[in-house]
Amino acid sequence: MSMKEDIVLSVDKLSKTFKKPFSRVKVEAVRGISFDVKRGDIFGFLGPNGSGKTTTIKMLTGLISPTSGSATIFGEQAPSPPVMRRVGFLPENPYVYPYLTPREFVDLCGRLNGMRGADLRKRTEQILERVGIAYAMDRAVRALSKGMLQRTGLAAALVHEPDMLLLDEPMSGLDPVGRKEVRDIILEEVRAGKTVFFSSHILSDVEMLCDRVCILRKGEVVVSGAIRELLGTGPRYCEITLVDVPDAFRRELETERGAKASGASVVVDVEGDAEVRAIIERAWAVGARLDSAVQKRETLEDIFVRRAL
Ligand SMILES: Nc1ncnc2c1ncn2[C@@H]1O[C@H](COP(=O)(O)OP(=O)(O)O)[C@@H](O)[C@H]1O
Ligand SMILES: [Mg+2]
Repeated sequence: MSMKEDIVLSVDKLSKTFKKPFSRVKVEAVRGISFDVKRGDIFGFLGPNGSGKTTTIKMLTGLISPTSGSATIFGEQAPSPPVMRRVGFLPENPYVYPYLTPREFVDLCGRLNGMRGADLRKRTEQILERVGIAYAMDRAVRALSKGMLQRTGLAAALVHEPDMLLLDEPMSGLDPVGRKEVRDIILEEVRAGKTVFFSSHILSDVEMLCDRVCILRKGEVVVSGAIRELLGTGPRYCEITLVDVPDAFRRELETERGAKASGASVVVDVEGDAEVRAIIERAWAVGARLDSAVQKRETLEDIFVRRAL
């Protein structure tokens, strides 16, 4: 397989500027972002609220058109109808016709993707079972909770067995058990050879699942790469916790080292062995005690806070 066939989603300098009607106000929601998603990857699309994730996904799925730039999915200009048949899309707030049942809605989505008959009936039940909503599949959608709607939307995205999933905040509205179930579905899809692209602001889910991430900030990519490399190369630091800290020394640590008081203890992050030693020696000299000194590495959350906010 060539490199090119290995890339299933390629985004090239994509931009979207919204113009507010009847005014000159412009919102540059997405500002020339580029990234590639490889076959078989779980790709996390991160960023704080308003950073342009949903706008990007809407451009990829044809709900809005880009101001400039382009994207390809499976090597073809996105979003074209034949390409979209190979994509399963879960919108941020899945709109499910309120007077249908989950079974009817998922069946409809299957039909729109060319499925028919007994195969579709069987597949609909099987997929509703898999997303954990079979027990409610004949209730009217308007009576479902946010989490149940989310699951129905996920079933609709999966019914036609797409090769790639584009999921906008798939864990939102779900409790920890529901989030685990969605993570398991994502893992099963990838094991079956599919590619999963999803947006999220729940960093622990992303850290657990993703091979690669791209972090947006105000419509621009600020971090991208393999998650293992991002976490592996981040600076190491030592978290020192002191107790019985005299006031003067506590104030010094707070102003000069960004230390945080936490109950009776003071916590300070220090880089480098020499600095660690200097702080501990100073602490002993002024009569404070060392509670702990722990080597830490940056987490995805640290990177996110440092680069995306
Ligand atoms: N239809 C629209 N008209 C005007 N501004 C919009 C529209 N949709 C989104 N925006 C703005 O674009 C920015 C990015 O929004 P969005 O893509 O929804 O971010 P995210 O999904 O990362 O939270 C925000 O400032 C938002 O207010
Ligand atoms: Mg969004």
